[in-house]
Amino acid sequence: MACKQEASVVRVDGFPSERPETQEKMSDGDKLTQHVENVVRTWALVKKDLVGNGIVFYMRLFSENPEVKSLFSFASSMNTEEVQHDNPGLRRQAKTLMSMIDYAIRCLGNLKDLVPKLKTLGKRHFVKYNVKPEHFKAVGAALLWTLKEGLGEIFTRDVDAAWTAIFRILADVMIEGGKEGLAEIKSRSTGNE
Ligand code: HEM
Repeated sequence: MACKQEASVVRVDGFPSERPETQEKMSDGDKLTQHVENVVRTWALVKKDLVGNGIVFYMRLFSENPEVKSLFSFASSMNTEEVQHDNPGLRRQAKTLMSMIDYAIRCLGNLKDLVPKLKTLGKRHFVKYNVKPEHFKAVGAALLWTLKEGLGEIFTRDVDAAWTAIFRILADVMIEGGKEGLAEIKSRSTGNE
């Protein structure tokens, strides 16, 4: 995979790097660059326990949205209270998700590589896993909750705003890819009739 660099100095291509004196004067590009900086800085802390935080995320996702559990092969046949922290399937899924988020964050300065990967991932989600656009709200909320729990007072309003904005971008690209995937299937099946 590309984007191997540690993203300590991430710049979003095409956006100006100089920081204006005041918040009011910030352009959208400056705001996005600041969001990326906040996400990269706080992710470096979360990443220290990637799997542990991934498990916290899934426990929260399932406790708040028991209906999404059925989408996951490791959890579909379990009751919410049966999904325990040490479940091997949960561990694997936590590692997979968090590693992908890690990759996406390292790629934020290289959207040219990231966008096609996210679109393909979105396509798999919609076509293979039966994920719907509204599920991203639940996943976003569980992720933000996990970050807040893990970061404590470091999770400031700016950090909250940064993660909300960046998650929305990632989700929007995945949803776009997912919708394209469904449309392709539909046009193929219509063409075959
Ligand atoms: C930023 C958002 C998300 C990221 C980065 C992400 C990442 C991933 C990755 C890397 C996989 C491994 C399989 C693959 O690569 O195809 C996966 C699987 C999966 N994801 Fe996501 N995902 C996201 C959002 C969602 C949402 C909103 C849902 C719906 C609740 C969801 C449900 C699933 C399911 C059901 C699987 C398959 C699990 C299995 O094999 O049983 N994901 N996800």
